[in-house]
Amino acid sequence: MPAFTPRDLPLQDLHIVLGVTGSISCYKAADLASKLRQAGAAVEVVMTPAAAQFISPLTFRSLTGRDVIVDMFQAAEAEAHVEVARRADAMVIAPATADCLASLAHGLAGDMVALTALATRAPILLAPAMDNHMWEHPATQENVLTLRERGVAFVGPMEGRLASGRTGAGRLAEVPQIIGALRQLLGQRTGDLRGRHIVVSAGGTHEPLDPVRFIGNRSSGRMGFAIAEAARDRGAFVTLVAGPVALETPWGIQRVDIQTVAEMLVALEQATADSDAIIMAAAPADFRPAHPADHKIKKAPDQSSLTIELAQNPDIIASLPGGGVRVGFAAETRNLADYARQKLPAKRLHFIVANDVSAPGSGFGTETNQVVIFHDDGRVEEFPLLSKYAVAHLILDRVRERLQPQS
Ligand code: CTP
Repeated sequence: MPAFTPRDLPLQDLHIVLGVTGSISCYKAADLASKLRQAGAAVEVVMTPAAAQFISPLTFRSLTGRDVIVDMFQAAEAEAHVEVARRADAMVIAPATADCLASLAHGLAGDMVALTALATRAPILLAPAMDNHMWEHPATQENVLTLRERGVAFVGPMEGRLASGRTGAGRLAEVPQIIGALRQLLGQRTGDLRGRHIVVSAGGTHEPLDPVRFIGNRSSGRMGFAIAEAARDRGAFVTLVAGPVALETPWGIQRVDIQTVAEMLVALEQATADSDAIIMAAAPADFRPAHPADHKIKKAPDQSSLTIELAQNPDIIASLPGGGVRVGFAAETRNLADYARQKLPAKRLHFIVANDVSAPGSGFGTETNQVVIFHDDGRVEEFPLLSKYAVAHLILDRVRERLQPQS
């Protein structure tokens, strides 16, 4: 079996400079610094003196394990401004105030944050936070336009309740959104799936019995969502066709929600019209109630049983004509290899990702998965128990090998 290094953390080995400017939402930047580290990044914080009024540099020093620079004249390192800027694989400014946007748009370098942004050649992501009138002001909007035209990326501001008590556009994006936007930005710059359209299906389906009941299954959608995120992290444009699952839409991914197999089929026919790959991680129901009732089914007092007639659903992946590289899943509880091998030609797949859902750590709703990949050329690859994100990357590595050259 070829050696491989599982890719568990999305920001592994990256150096992220976090700029913090003075807004009441500064407290959220502490959580952001912590989550960036948990995602594998080395985090270096630079702050404006105004930000240091809201939150202590000590908080960031404790969270990142690194010195925090507020005063550019007192930095321990000579030429610190340029060194911080040079080390960065990406710079995130969160929160970015109206003053910060103006400084950046005009190339000012009056504080450590603006100065680092001017000196770096790494991609920059801004998460603005301010009063809605300040955000909507033509001066701010012009600055935003200038920065966008220069290739600076934005996440938010979001609509909602502001510190003033008013509602409007001006809230700092939530931490998962900021990290999602950063991962997307890095993927779009350097990812190996840039310019590709990857379609992923996830979750189970709900087949209605009557207006209040359905037949469903235990699929959590986690494997499909992990693949969608990993493909976005590698620069792909991702369409995620999702059954009814309790998962937030990852940033930068086009999500289409469906309930039934019939709806999933229509959504996937549309999405795969121009796709480079279709990864069928969903668990569509094989059968649906043949005659769903228009009204809630009532029980009679003397009724001891109820028989429901089921009709077979179409096999979605088998009925899709193309879609590019075709990847299926086989969740089995026995005879894994035999069933997976049978499904490969029947569904015209390039490879199938099989797992024993009765094995510990590999079932529905877990964060991990242990898979075996069966290829259409007879190759078989076995993997250890991995995070679903790591499994997602090894699936995408194999998708990439099979992609048609880009036109
Ligand atoms: N699949 C599909 N349409 C269906 C059922 C399954 O496209 N109606 C896809 C799944 O998304 C998966 C693959 O086919 O990628 C295998 O699904 P699985 O449920 O393991 O197999 P089935 O073909 O449904 O066969 P069985 O349930 O008898 O094992």
